[in-house]
Amino acid sequence: MWIPSDSEIRSLHERAAPTPEAFALVWTHCEIVCRIAEQFLTPELNADLVRAGCLLHDIGVYRLYGRDGTLDYPNYIKHGLLGHELLEAEGFPEPLCRFCSCHTGVGVTRADIREQGLPLPPGDYVPETAEETLVLYADKFHSKKSPPVFVSAATYAVSVSRFGAGKAARFSELVATYGEPDLKPLVSEYGHELV
Ligand SMILES: [Fe+2]
Repeated sequence: MWIPSDSEIRSLHERAAPTPEAFALVWTHCEIVCRIAEQFLTPELNADLVRAGCLLHDIGVYRLYGRDGTLDYPNYIKHGLLGHELLEAEGFPEPLCRFCSCHTGVGVTRADIREQGLPLPPGDYVPETAEETLVLYADKFHSKKSPPVFVSAATYAVSVSRFGAGKAARFSELVATYGEPDLKPLVSEYGHELV
């Protein structure tokens, strides 16, 4: 399968971003997620696919910026699906599109959509491959808040528990599988606080 290079993905971000500020925020986050995921690469994983998945996963966020440059937070949950659609329209293969639609939280299920009334078409938006699972996991340790922050496993565990005990349990399973990333070198390199 064709996998785009980092510079091809960066160009796509530049084209999709509504402002240089949005580009800087989203692209930097994607690079950081990539750096985190690299800590968990094993020989069984397709490293190029993980890398492309990390760099692409949030491309749909740009679609949620309004004319005034602010993010549409109430519809933020849609960013994964919007990214999937954006990549599909660019002719990207399905396995790459899926990194966008299957990275939100610890996975969004058909039952979640129904029970929480989420603004998504019915379906299971959950990782199926080891590469998809790793991109989802690495993404949990950095947040595009203003200002952006690194997120410890303990902090993420508290925030995900708001969505139910099942979500907290799934995150614990992921932490048990991968271990926690070493965020300290990234904190000093990027200057984002660790919360
Ligand atoms: Fe992300």
